Amino acid sequence: MDREAFLDELVRRALDLQSVLIAGPRRIGKTVLASEALRRLREEHGALTAEVDLFYCATAREFAAKLALACLGSRDGRLRRALAGTERALAQLAADTEIVARLPGLELHWLRHPERVPDEEMLDRALSLPERMAEAAGRPFVLLLDEFEEIERLGGDMLLKRMRAIFQRQRRTAYFFLGSRPSTLRALFGRQRQAFFRFADPLTVPPIPVEAWKEYATRKLAAQGIRLLPAAADFILDKTGGHPWGTSRAFSAAYHAAVAERSDVLDLDLAAAAFERMMDDLTDVFVQELQELDDIPHARVVLHRLARGERPYAGTRVHPQQVRRALQALVDRCILRRDGRGEYAFEEPLLREHLIRAGG
Ligand SMILES: Nc1ncnc2c1ncn2[C@@H]1O[C@H](COP(=O)(O)OP(=O)(O)OP(=O)(O)O)[C@@H](O)[C@H]1O
Ligand SMILES: [Mg+2]
Repeated sequence: MDREAFLDELVRRALDLQSVLIAGPRRIGKTVLASEALRRLREEHGALTAEVDLFYCATAREFAAKLALACLGSRDGRLRRALAGTERALAQLAADTEIVARLPGLELHWLRHPERVPDEEMLDRALSLPERMAEAAGRPFVLLLDEFEEIERLGGDMLLKRMRAIFQRQRRTAYFFLGSRPSTLRALFGRQRQAFFRFADPLTVPPIPVEAWKEYATRKLAAQGIRLLPAAADFILDKTGGHPWGTSRAFSAAYHAAVAERSDVLDLDLAAAAFERMMDDLTDVFVQELQELDDIPHARVVLHRLARGERPYAGTRVHPQQVRRALQALVDRCILRRDGRGEYAFEEPLLREHLIRAGG
C-alpha cells in the first residue's frame, strides 16, 4: 500500500530530525499513521517518543503538564505511573524545590510546587524536556503534537513564539504536527512573519487506492471464512470513495451482517442492507459534524445543494458572494475539495450520503 511508503517517509524524516506537518481532512488516518510511525521509531530505531493531543488541553498550563508527563512517560513506565496524578503527584515526589527523578543515565528535575511557577516557566520547562531527554539518552526524540491548530486557542502568538524559540535550538528532537484545519496550520507554518515559518515540511496523507482496499478487505474476510463478492466490494467502495474511516466502517458492518446471517458469502444484497443500517447508526456523527459548521454562514444550504448534485450557485436564496465565502470556508475546513474543473467534491462521501438521506 502507498501508506507503507508514507510511513517509511515519516520514519526517515524523523530520524533526519526533520519535522513534518500533516494537515488533512478529518478521519483520513493522520493519527493512526503518525502513531504507527512513532511505534516503529521507538521499537525499531530506539527513539524516545511521546504524543500530546492539544484538543484535550484546556489551557497552556495544562498543555505544559501533559507534555511533561508524556515525555517522562516515554522513558519509563514506572515513572509514568508515579506521575499519574499530574501536577499534584509531581509536587509530592521529592523534597526541596525540585523533583529529581533518576533514570539510567539521566537526571530529570521537575518542580515541587508547580502552582507557584508562572505559566511561561512551566511551558519552557516542558518544551525543553524532549531535547534534554534526547541529549541525556543519546537518542533522538520524536514528539507528536496532535490537533495542533488548537494552539491558537491555548495561547496564540505568545505560545507559538515561545515554542519556536525553543524548538529551533534543538538538535535531537523532531516533531510531527497534525491537524485538520489546513488553512489555520498553513497560516501558522507558512507565512513569513509567523513563528513557525519553514519549521516543518508539509506532507499529504496518500489515499488508499481502491484496488488496495479490495485486496485488503478480501483477504481480511477470507481469514474469517467469508468470500467477498466483487459486486459487494464495488458497491461499498463506490459509496465511500475509499475514505479510510468510512470504508473500514462499511466493510466491518458488512462483515457483521454476514456473520449474523450465517452466510459465508458477502454479496451485494448483504452489503447494501448493512450499509443502510450503518448510515442510520452514523447519523449522530454527521449531525454533530454539521453542527460544528454552523459558524459558517449558509454552509448547510450549500452542502445540501452539492449533495443533490446541483451547482452551488443554483437557487436565489443566497447571494453568490455568500456562496463563494461558504465554499471557501468549507474547503478550508477540509469538508469539500475543489477538483480540477472548478467543481466541488465531498472529502468524505458518506457526509454526502447523510445529507441526501436527511433531505432539506
Ligand atoms: N490504513 C487504514 N486502514 C484502515 N482503516 C484506517 C486506516 N487509517 C485509518 N483508518 C480508520 O480511520 C479512522 C480514523 O483514523 P484517524 O483517527 O487516524 O484519523 P485522523 O485523520 O487522525 O482524524 P481526526 O482529524 O478526526 O483526528 C480509524 O479509526 C480507522 O478506523
Ligand atoms: Mg486525529
